[in-house]
Amino acid sequence: MKSIILYYSRSRKTAAAAKALANEISANIVEIEDLKGRSGVLNYIGSSIEAFREIKTRIKPEILDLGGYDLIYIGTPVWAGKPAPAIVTAIDKYNFQGKDVILFATLGGSGGKSTIKRMEEKIEARGGRIITSFSIRTTGKKMYEIREEIKGIVEEMDLKIYGI
Ligand SMILES: Cc1cc2nc3c(=O)[nH]c(=O)nc-3n(C[C@H](O)[C@H](O)[C@H](O)COP(=O)(O)O)c2cc1C
Repeated sequence: MKSIILYYSRSRKTAAAAKALANEISANIVEIEDLKGRSGVLNYIGSSIEAFREIKTRIKPEILDLGGYDLIYIGTPVWAGKPAPAIVTAIDKYNFQGKDVILFATLGGSGGKSTIKRMEEKIEARGGRIITSFSIRTTGKKMYEIREEIKGIVEEMDLKIYGI
């Protein structure tokens, strides 16, 4: 079963998790970029509002052929209890019909469940099948700690079995 990890990351924590995951399960990995500037304090508020309202954004890659993959991981930071706009946009643009999907979120403190739930709803509405999901808290954690946590999750959830 061929696996790919898709992720968006503003401050590189989800990126660290996604890369560690790719390493552990030997999957391909694609970063989804948000072409709208998201740095700075003002953007934090604006981005939270956009995420909460599920406002779409411009992403790169705009088109992604997932045809060669059976299992797709999607990773997002939690923004205002929702997936980041780049991930909402990617779920709408890419074709998840008939795909097995594993979701993950990184978060400061709360909103992991609502974020995963919203992604589940969107993927299922597009013909994808949710296998499992997990989220990790990143506040106060160093990148290596996030990578270590991912290793633990892969073990605990036996994620390697899905890639066989
Ligand atoms: C615009 C914005 C909104 C956020 N909203 C939440 C939130 O509702 N709940 C939460 O626990 N963390 C929230 N966070 C924190 C991030 O989810 C957390 O730091 C995440 O690990 C960052 O991932 P990244 O480094 O891949 O961008 C928010 C961060 C940003 C930038």
